[in-house]
Amino acid sequence: MPDPHSYYDPNQARISHIDFVIKVDFVSSTLHLQSAYTMHTPVEGALFLDTRDLEIHRIHSGGKELNWELDLSDPILGQRLHIKDMNAIASFTIESTTTPESSALQWLNPELTAGGQHPYLYSQCQSIHARSIFACQDSPVVRLTYSADVILPKPLVAVMAAASIGSRDEGSKTRYRFEMPQAIPSYLFAIAAGNIKFRSLGIRCGVYAEPEILEAAAWEFAKTEDILAKAENLFGPYAWDRYDILVLPPAFPYGGMENPRLTFISPVYLVGDRSETIIVTHELAHAWTGNLITNATWEDFWLNEGWTTYAEIRITEALEGREYAQFRSALGRDYMFEDMQHLDSDPALTALSFPMQGLDPDLITTTIPYHKGNAFLTHLEETVGRKKFDAFIKTYIDTYRFTSLSTRQFITFLEEKLGEDIRDIDIDTWLYEPGFPEFAPVLNSRVYENIFAKAAAFANGDQIVEADIGGWKPAEVTLFLRLLPKNLEGSSVRYLEALFNIKESKNATILTSFYVNALQSDYAESLPRIERFTKSIGRSFLVTKIFRAMLGSNWARNEARRIFESAKAHYHPITISNIEEILAAGGL
Ligand code: BES
Ligand code: ZN
Repeated sequence: MPDPHSYYDPNQARISHIDFVIKVDFVSSTLHLQSAYTMHTPVEGALFLDTRDLEIHRIHSGGKELNWELDLSDPILGQRLHIKDMNAIASFTIESTTTPESSALQWLNPELTAGGQHPYLYSQCQSIHARSIFACQDSPVVRLTYSADVILPKPLVAVMAAASIGSRDEGSKTRYRFEMPQAIPSYLFAIAAGNIKFRSLGIRCGVYAEPEILEAAAWEFAKTEDILAKAENLFGPYAWDRYDILVLPPAFPYGGMENPRLTFISPVYLVGDRSETIIVTHELAHAWTGNLITNATWEDFWLNEGWTTYAEIRITEALEGREYAQFRSALGRDYMFEDMQHLDSDPALTALSFPMQGLDPDLITTTIPYHKGNAFLTHLEETVGRKKFDAFIKTYIDTYRFTSLSTRQFITFLEEKLGEDIRDIDIDTWLYEPGFPEFAPVLNSRVYENIFAKAAAFANGDQIVEADIGGWKPAEVTLFLRLLPKNLEGSSVRYLEALFNIKESKNATILTSFYVNALQSDYAESLPRIERFTKSIGRSFLVTKIFRAMLGSNWARNEARRIFESAKAHYHPITISNIEEILAAGGL
């Protein structure tokens, strides 16, 4: 099956390695690249590579210029780079420059960093943005290794999702060296630069962040080695040597991104009580499910995220017990149902896997492949029993490590290995039907039930007091707030604000749920705080919830456009597009 999001031609030779020299220019917001490509086999005739918003200066091999043109062009895919008459060439060099439009890169002015003194650069290549940094076969079926020299002005520091080999002084600049010995799909290429410092968290783990937040980050993620140990117990040896974390500035559009060896994490997780380390569990789990075994195309995205959510829940169970793991599953399902509701008019997008031709993968990402995928895998586990399923997981990982596979290939493997045991499972409904099947596993969380009952009682006018919520974890508070109905009395919302100490809270997930309640109820006095909040966080998943609620709010609706325009400078372009879409759909 061809990849609908790449010009990659499976009949042509694949890239095996790229050795980069990358010059970082903060003045023009561009990277200048000299990229030496090595192919697995010599190329005869044409080679097609993906590009987008790149300036290609020269392509040469052995001192000779190669002929090329940027021919096909598409609003989602970008431009096809067509290198001509290759004549058995197995290596060549491309000299290119990114443009300020290159969608993988965000260049931040100092005001958008913790320190406020230095500029910051970071990349986000998933799903199809790597092509806006370098010409590549930007399909997740193609894996390559790379090495890189990164040159940038002092005192800035460069990091990559690769092994850090060292650095060298070059006058006013520093040259860093990186090597990525494990083969990765292009979407896992990652770089960042800024005033970045490092703190070790143990033998294999550490955290990078701006010095202003380094202490907080090291404290928050101090348990990372434990999570890694539990994950290895379940899924086998960690294949990527080191596991470090980079905490980004608030504009980072995702909660986390599983860049190999160096997970990128949003600063919204620095909550000060270690209650949100699920983000580490999730991104670390991708080291097996996603990075080691990769979805063949973005139509198979659930193989990355459904498996990772399943793995995250299994690790959580090993760390914190079954009750909390079941609770997390239930909370995830609640988010999933919210997304399904928004897709009422587009139910095709609620299937686990659906055709994506003509669709931009980033703009249709929901929590459905995560939690419906987890439910499907849990259903398989419960059907065959945990022991058999765990053995299956090990075989699956051993068989497909460092490769990519499609949903079809996965199902074939599943049926081959589990055969008779899963005969009665309606796999096609799980994969291709919209909505959530009624035969999905039943979750069993006392904590969930209790909160559900409390929320229903509160909605009915019962009081809830300090004693009821004593010992609630932050995720439980979030769930409670999410389960409340719209149109509460202003006084009820004010009461909850005091009860949960919202004005002091540093937890953006709780704050988001609370402000959604406020917006949907009669609590207009919260507007100035909501406005400040929208400028303080950039995680798209959260800010989009705020703007969606604003549109449905009778007192904030007319302010939504203005608030967005004034917060926009704090966001990543992906977040901006997501909000624009919500505003447009809401008639603003
Ligand atoms: N790989 C995803 C982030 C992503 C998804 C980037 C789609 C680009 C396109 C990452 O692993 C992820 O799932 N992040 C979640 C974390 C959450 C599930 C704990 C997020 O950012 O919300
Ligand atoms: Zn993920």
